[in-house]
Amino acid sequence: MKTKITELFGIKHPIIQGGMHYVGFAELAAAVSNAGGLGVITGLTQKTPSDLAKEIARCRQMTDKPFGVNLTFLPTVTSPDYPGYIDAIIDGGVKIMETAGRNPEAYLSRLQNAGIKIIHKCTSVRHALKAETLGCDAVSIDGFECGGHPGENDIPNMILLPRAGEELTIPFVASGGMADGRSLVASLSLGAEGINMGTRFIATKEAPVHENVKKAIVAASELDTRLIMRPLRNTERVMNNPAVEKLLQKEAMLGNTIQFEDILEEVVGVYPKIMKEGNMDAGAWSCGMVAGLIHDIPTCRELIDRIMSEAEEIIQNRLRSMLS
Ligand SMILES: Cc1cc2nc3c(=O)[nH]c(=O)nc-3n(C[C@H](O)[C@H](O)[C@H](O)COP(=O)(O)O)c2cc1C
Repeated sequence: MKTKITELFGIKHPIIQGGMHYVGFAELAAAVSNAGGLGVITGLTQKTPSDLAKEIARCRQMTDKPFGVNLTFLPTVTSPDYPGYIDAIIDGGVKIMETAGRNPEAYLSRLQNAGIKIIHKCTSVRHALKAETLGCDAVSIDGFECGGHPGENDIPNMILLPRAGEELTIPFVASGGMADGRSLVASLSLGAEGINMGTRFIATKEAPVHENVKKAIVAASELDTRLIMRPLRNTERVMNNPAVEKLLQKEAMLGNTIQFEDILEEVVGVYPKIMKEGNMDAGAWSCGMVAGLIHDIPTCRELIDRIMSEAEEIIQNRLRSMLS
């Protein structure tokens, strides 16, 4: 399949693996890229810029295909060493970046001068337009369904994607709720040039996370995620568990007086415990509603090949037959 996204990034299939904290290591990024998609290393999971440089080098040993690095610009008080991470990306010869969180304006010209293509992930048409104005090459539109941070507007992809199509000139991919060939064809119909998947890629053989995480996703239904941190205007969609229920009780009790400090126990430092140790109740971890559509743990190649053949079958047979 050829779309503006496959052309832009030099990839075979219009399928991107979004950056994921403590999931997006070199093993997963390389597996996705080797299968013809675009794998992405999660920059901030690497504790220092020099760790990121090593991770990029490790990924390069595992694939000769294009891969990207995600850099998430967090609204934190003590900012990570973004200039250092950007040096590691440029010096590592990476040519594609997925930016997220705040817009990448401050770093854009350096990145572009280094020949890096930028896909900025955002949750509203307004932010997508801003990214376009700044000169980003593409955007990833994260609908309300998505795992992680869906923003505060709660617009699902059925509306958000065609709205993006009405306003944008640069290509965009559909993110949030994507799992299979049906998702891909639907997204293309709504104006997207491809799909970005998070949760679906965690439940793959190569995802370097504990088996308990993969099993939890397969076992979950579309009813099993919750939105946390809404009163802090930092809404996150996570898998429900006792820690999340405790956090939601605190939110209900404290109302608008809640501070980030009140929920530290449930959200800070929990990712290694969950993703590496498989302690599924250690805290809140991002997960999309799409868990309801995930029933197996294939390899990345099996998953991507299946998505592409399902999409082709839908377009060539199901849709075409409706016209005749
Ligand atoms: C466990 C997990 C961790 C994530 N971490 C990040 C992150 O660090 N930076 C980021 O930009 N997006 C992050 N995301 C969001 C994904 O890149 C992607 O946009 C989202 O998962 C798409 O929705 P889906 O899960 O329905 O496919 C994360 C998602 C998950 C499930």
